Amino acid sequence: MAVLVTGGAGYIGSHTCVELLNVGHEVVVVDNFFNSKLESLKRVSDITGKTFKTYNVDLLNQEGLERVFSENTIESVIHFAGLKAVGESVSFPLWYYHNNLTGTFVLCELMKKYGVKKLVFSSSATVYGSTDQVPISEDAPIAAVNPYGKTKQIIEEILRDLYISDEGWSITLLRYFNPIGAHESGLIGEDPNGIPNNLMPYISQVAVGKLQSLNIFGSDYSTKDGTGVRDYIHVVDLAKGHLKALEKVQSLKGVNAYNLGTGKGYSVLEMVKAFEAASGKKVSYAFTDRRLGDAAICFADVSKAKNELGWVAAKGINEMCQDTWRWQKNNPDGYVKNHDNLIEHDFPVRTSAADFLVSN
Ligand code: NAD
Ligand code: WQD
Repeated sequence: MAVLVTGGAGYIGSHTCVELLNVGHEVVVVDNFFNSKLESLKRVSDITGKTFKTYNVDLLNQEGLERVFSENTIESVIHFAGLKAVGESVSFPLWYYHNNLTGTFVLCELMKKYGVKKLVFSSSATVYGSTDQVPISEDAPIAAVNPYGKTKQIIEEILRDLYISDEGWSITLLRYFNPIGAHESGLIGEDPNGIPNNLMPYISQVAVGKLQSLNIFGSDYSTKDGTGVRDYIHVVDLAKGHLKALEKVQSLKGVNAYNLGTGKGYSVLEMVKAFEAASGKKVSYAFTDRRLGDAAICFADVSKAKNELGWVAAKGINEMCQDTWRWQKNNPDGYVKNHDNLIEHDFPVRTSAADFLVSN
């Protein structure tokens, strides 16, 4: 019986595959490699000493995805696959809604057809919108403010309706706060395309000399030092949270949402200082205007995950920075290799938003 991991080649998916394989799960990965490289999965195999099946299939390709279900005995699904860049979602809302929602529809239809009703879904703290009411608990109002966040909000609602229609489903919605860090081996980590949108990859690319200087978006927030505060969580802790969520869907029916964060907030300036200490490198920065849509402060109430999943984040800010730095300095250009011979080729891998819009 296997765990199907959609988007398993991506940042959080690859770290979760390591944890799943380490505890003996059989893993099947589906990814279209739109935002990832096969090399990440080769390294998952190197880290764990285990092999697993990988399909190069787009979730929108129902026939291709059905092959995955028919060729494997899938018991549960962890659904990471999706597009995740906020700014891009504002520019290409139809693309985001189509990819994230239709991908989930196709997946859930096939799960239903094959009698697979255990699902762990990657949601996001972004569903809470720009609230400054912290700590944020799971029953805070849901009010996403951009198309990306709305895809998560809508999928959460669809999954709740799915359960209402059939109480055989067991679904866990994991609302991640700000995942950062990398596996301690330095072999896998976050590999953004182009100039990073998120703080941590930006800082680490300044430290390694790929980017010149960090723009700090706003210095006049009502926070400890005027810069934005977030709940950064180590990606390995996050990956371990998925194992707990998977246990939960085995034992409990229904739809349950959990925040995965540390419950602590760090400012942008604190992150810069922590990264400088971990790397021994200077991170140049300049203050610029606030970024549209940013909340001043955001951190999680993590008591529900602790009480119901038995999960708490173990790694602190120093480890997050040290592990990010090890990954960044060992892989200044991210994953450069690809391994076409290892995968099933079912579907052409899309290469850009423009391609998608023209061909569809
Ligand atoms: P990622 O982009 O590294 O991984 C997502 C993977 O899904 C990629 O490998 C991509 O190629 C694949 N994918 C996308 N659309 C697909 C499709 N139609 N068919 C098949 N594969 C497809 O992102 P990540 O950071 O690992 O995030 C994983 C999930 O967690 C996403 O759903 C994301 O929205 C969510 N999330 C991420 C963050 C974060 O800050 N990284 C925070 C909250 C939630
Ligand atoms: C963190 C802090 C910025 C970059 C985003 C998504 C969210 C979720 C996680 C997926 C903020 C500041 C950033 C920079 C800066 N993703 N910053 N200079 O915005 O909290 O959350 O990623 O679900 O949906 O919105 O994360 O890393 O972009 O920003 O000053 O170059 O760093 O203003 O205070 P954010 P982030």
